[in-house]
Amino acid sequence: MKEQLLIKFAEVFGDARDAQVYFAPGRVNLIGEHTDYNGGHVFPCALTIGTYGVARKRQDRALRFYSMNFEELGVLSSSLEDLKPASQAAWTNYPKGVMWAFQEKGMKLPCGLDLLLFGNIPNGSGLSSSASVEVLTGFILKDLFGFSVSNQELALIGQFSENRFNGVNCGIMDQFAIAMGQKNAAIFLDTATLQYEYAPITLDHAKIVIACSNKKRGLGDSKYNERRSQCESALAALQKVVDIASLGELDEDAFEQHKAVIGDAILIKRAKHAVYENRRTLKAVEALKAGDITGFGQLMNGSHVSLRDDYEVTGPELDALVEAAWQVEGVIGSRMTGAGFGGCSVSIVENRAVDSFIAQVGEAYKQKIGYAADFYVVEIGDGPRKL
Ligand code: GLA
Repeated sequence: MKEQLLIKFAEVFGDARDAQVYFAPGRVNLIGEHTDYNGGHVFPCALTIGTYGVARKRQDRALRFYSMNFEELGVLSSSLEDLKPASQAAWTNYPKGVMWAFQEKGMKLPCGLDLLLFGNIPNGSGLSSSASVEVLTGFILKDLFGFSVSNQELALIGQFSENRFNGVNCGIMDQFAIAMGQKNAAIFLDTATLQYEYAPITLDHAKIVIACSNKKRGLGDSKYNERRSQCESALAALQKVVDIASLGELDEDAFEQHKAVIGDAILIKRAKHAVYENRRTLKAVEALKAGDITGFGQLMNGSHVSLRDDYEVTGPELDALVEAAWQVEGVIGSRMTGAGFGGCSVSIVENRAVDSFIAQVGEAYKQKIGYAADFYVVEIGDGPRKL
């Protein structure tokens, strides 16, 4: 891989002298969806698929970008003097956003870069290809220019750039999962405090299978920001009667006791999801620690139902994937993962059932939706690194 990337870099940028090769993973969230901007818990893990980057410092202030995933766009040029979001800048808004964020945080970039990327995460799939590019860019800037910044700070910088440069009001989960990833472990993260712990995922008899709906989704255009502000409105109403800083501080009983004050049926459903999903995540991690993978799977299923009925972010494609998965013998749990509105489902499937899972869910999906889904049996991998 490294050799091929360097050859491509030389082809695009003349030669590959002094070019360095890096990698940052994608992520999948096992449970804890739409809780990260509600002060709740999440349970994601980094994957062995992700984004490769080849980078080299320039003598001037220019920026040259090339993506092997968007070859038709050719080399996209910019400059450190022009770090503003622009629609014609396409995917380069992500690395540019991180460069902008570094400078905002006082880390001035001394010179421009040539940067070539190649991602093997399906784009727009809900496996965080954009956060992967953000963390990768931060890691490259840190390494090439010698900034002293921790991986956790790289996650926060990535989120800051996504919020402020790219206009998506996302939480910290994706960038954190990618920057802090650890092989064979999921990250149990309290998004209110950023305290976290690694939970080993040793699935001897099962695999994590991702089903990609192939319905493309742009977070910026989606209802993501709307859901977030609905939760904020519900929280503001609840704060009149309970002393809480976020929905994540409520348990189910307290929510049921006070929910009427929210006063709007839709907002009550949104807040209910945030509260119950956070509690499901706590229970799921407990189940896993106790070796109760069946219990973990049932909580995953419950998460999907709540995202479908109360949070309303699944849509026919993800429902088709997950509801077909629930019918397959040997499926331990299945749910949508990521923001929703398209993207992927994540399922835990017994080894012996993986082939029939792919066949049956693939067939049911095609019948119902009219085009094919893609399946990936994934492994949990480490965070960003130089190759
Ligand atoms: C997207 C966001 C995350 C998180 C998820 C939903 O992936 O980037 O911050 O809110 O959606 O759980």
